[in-house]
Amino acid sequence: MLMTDIIERKRDGYKLSKEEIEFFVKGYTEGSIPDYQASALCMAIYLKGMDDEEATALAIAMRDSGDKMDLSSIPGKKVDKHSTGGVGDKTSLVLAPLVASFGLKFAKMSGRGLGHTGGTLDKLESINGYNIGIAPEAFVNQVKNVGMAIVGQTGNLTPADKKLYALRDVTATVSSIPLIASSIMSKKLAAGADIIVLDVKVGAGAFMKTLDDARHLARLMVQIGSNCGRNMTAVLTNMEEPLGLAVGNALEVIEAINTLKGHGPKDLLDLCLEIGSYQLTDAGIFATREEAKAAMRENIANGKALAKFKEFVAAQGGDASFADDTTKFAQAKEILEVKADKAGYVSHIDALAIGHAGMLLGAGRETMADVIDPAVGIVLNKKVGDKVEKGEALCYVYTNGKNTKESMERAFNAFKISSEHTEPQLILDVIR
Ligand code: URA
Repeated sequence: MLMTDIIERKRDGYKLSKEEIEFFVKGYTEGSIPDYQASALCMAIYLKGMDDEEATALAIAMRDSGDKMDLSSIPGKKVDKHSTGGVGDKTSLVLAPLVASFGLKFAKMSGRGLGHTGGTLDKLESINGYNIGIAPEAFVNQVKNVGMAIVGQTGNLTPADKKLYALRDVTATVSSIPLIASSIMSKKLAAGADIIVLDVKVGAGAFMKTLDDARHLARLMVQIGSNCGRNMTAVLTNMEEPLGLAVGNALEVIEAINTLKGHGPKDLLDLCLEIGSYQLTDAGIFATREEAKAAMRENIANGKALAKFKEFVAAQGGDASFADDTTKFAQAKEILEVKADKAGYVSHIDALAIGHAGMLLGAGRETMADVIDPAVGIVLNKKVGDKVEKGEALCYVYTNGKNTKESMERAFNAFKISSEHTEPQLILDVIR
């Protein structure tokens, strides 16, 4: 087989065979296919697309390019959840202990943040001692014994995706739906869970800017997972405003803890109940989603979800007393108000701009070498649909002095205030 033939066939709009896709992935991972040929193929895929069968073959070939997590020694169904990246997205920190408090096994490998969306690992590291780097065997044991673990990628998982993603990043080929779907699904398949819920973010602050593109991506990922025997759900959620109120590492963990204590923001809780209800019914723990939601509310009220969070943090070496006393988290030196310059209703909060405002303060990274300040970030005082008076706080900037003025301007400009009241919609669609 010749790589030039494969590039030519895709360039001319033909469907690639499973063998051609496997040849490419194997050769590129081993180094026998150079970057320039892989770039040409990625661009041909970007322009001509791939059908479900081709995208499934690409996901499987990338899944098989390295180690795979073997969760088979853990009894029962194992669940995983993936978000395509949003601002203020701390869902996993609430969802995982919530569903694990019913005995469901939650096995999650997460990433660090780059750009305006924070990474779950960076957030968890704001708890003293929390260790993201546990070995595969310890990861499996913790999921078995505690019911949940959230770690960095362990072992040599999907090396083909790692190499190809880095290449796509510098060849303007990231935003291809079949390439994104196969990249995400290769990692989810290698991570080994039976039940996978994908949270596909839609809007200005997300990868997918339109509902049509988000539906296309979600449908393709659900199809790839189902073709591989996984139980798949994709929830399409609005990223036209940040999720919850807090954006920033320690601030988001504190908000997750408060949600587990029963006083979190409504949109965050609603999303966790929505995703959790699919996971718990698909695992056979509850018969209906309504029952599952009622039971989850009960485990928040009776403290079982918070107790599971503390057990999980302690199992990974973290100081669980942070959950009892959130003043133990790193604190910003100053909290400044960003005030409304007119009265009305908040009609839009640019999630991307809020993400950038947080990044300017040191809450995110521009390059992987940047060091994160866990204490800083933005806390919204108003969400879309809220009434606001002139001079009232729109949000609070938690700062240690870095780029404060610029961050406050960015945050102020993120808010749109209008005379019309608009009701935000969080869940836009569900694809199973
Ligand atoms: N996230 C991934 O893991 N892969 C992509 O291609 C895009 C987003």
